Amino acid sequence: MPLVPPYIEALRPYEPGRSIAEIQQAYGVRDVIKLASNENPLGTSPMALEAMHRCLRDLHIYPSGGLKLREELAARFRLKVGNVIVGSGSDSIMANIIRTFLCDDDEVLTTEAAFAAFTLLAKSRGVPYRTVPYKNWTYDLEALAEAINERTKIIYLANPNNPTGTMFTKPEFDRFYKHVPERVLILLDEAYYEYARDNQSYPDSMQYRYDNVITLRTFSKAYGLAGLRVGYGFAHEDLIGNLLKIKLPFEPGTLGEVAAMAALEDRDFLHRTLAMNARSLRILTHGLQAQGFRVVPSEANFVMVLLESEAEAMAMVEGLLRQGIIVRPLKSFGIPQAVRISTGTEQDMERCLAAVANWRGVSPAVTSVSR
Ligand SMILES: Cc1ncc(COP(=O)(O)O)c(C=O)c1O
Repeated sequence: MPLVPPYIEALRPYEPGRSIAEIQQAYGVRDVIKLASNENPLGTSPMALEAMHRCLRDLHIYPSGGLKLREELAARFRLKVGNVIVGSGSDSIMANIIRTFLCDDDEVLTTEAAFAAFTLLAKSRGVPYRTVPYKNWTYDLEALAEAINERTKIIYLANPNNPTGTMFTKPEFDRFYKHVPERVLILLDEAYYEYARDNQSYPDSMQYRYDNVITLRTFSKAYGLAGLRVGYGFAHEDLIGNLLKIKLPFEPGTLGEVAAMAALEDRDFLHRTLAMNARSLRILTHGLQAQGFRVVPSEANFVMVLLESEAEAMAMVEGLLRQGIIVRPLKSFGIPQAVRISTGTEQDMERCLAAVANWRGVSPAVTSVSR
């Protein structure tokens, strides 16, 4: 009997975006911008930074396990504390969902090339992991509904989706939901909720609570707290109650909890983040299209660019790295001919477009876009 199960041996570790320091060293470029991990280009909420400062002297004390943050989120969303869970990033809550709900005879169902961290977590459980193809780079909810069988236990849906940036709509979700038996758990990953919530057709899962839906959200993106690792989830109290049994008792850490609570109060930072993202997304999308690239329209804080081949995608990544711009190749997500570019500041976007033009050998004039 091998020490490590074959389904673990077969996995490859998650590949995070490359760091600024790594690229500065490898390419000898001083001024590097990272557009590879969908982070917040405005940094961290100032109110969160202040709140962390205030509690630096209390770090020898164990955290509360997130109780205060759960209470705050419950109050904001008019729920009971028992409907809310928090953890070290939504990734951690996802890991707990996999551990809590899957039995050996169950299956996980989702789209092809889904969010890579989820794929890895689901496969680490050693149960069948089934996918259906995208339809226009969006979850094909009809095909997913048809693919449900008696072993299906978890259906994972990210909306908006990473890495495609696309969103399924309210009517699509409503039609899909009618076909999902109650014994199947829908894991609705809304990591990019803040960017999409003003879209009239966005199916905000908090507008209709179903007993077999778990909503996951995060402080890593619009709140600029990716380095602290704080995520949260909403669900029926029976589901949350079981998740709480296996959650590591002290996550999130003290700094993460106080920062998240302060970030929720910082409306100005969230407003500036969303306004900048809307502008940068427009500049990036139109600028790339003006250069003749196929760009999938995005509802999040990044775009997926479709190249002719994996070789061309890798050439683009490399061509941009040489000019100090880190973007994400999507081979490890399962879309090798694509590259994902996160939004930055407006200046970052102009610099990125000029670098793309330079790599392509196109006149920079072609990149100017009306806003
Ligand atoms: C779809 C999706 N879900 C979850 C996460 C992870 O968020 P967190 O930082 O809260 O673990 C990400 C981060 O990139 C994501 O894209």
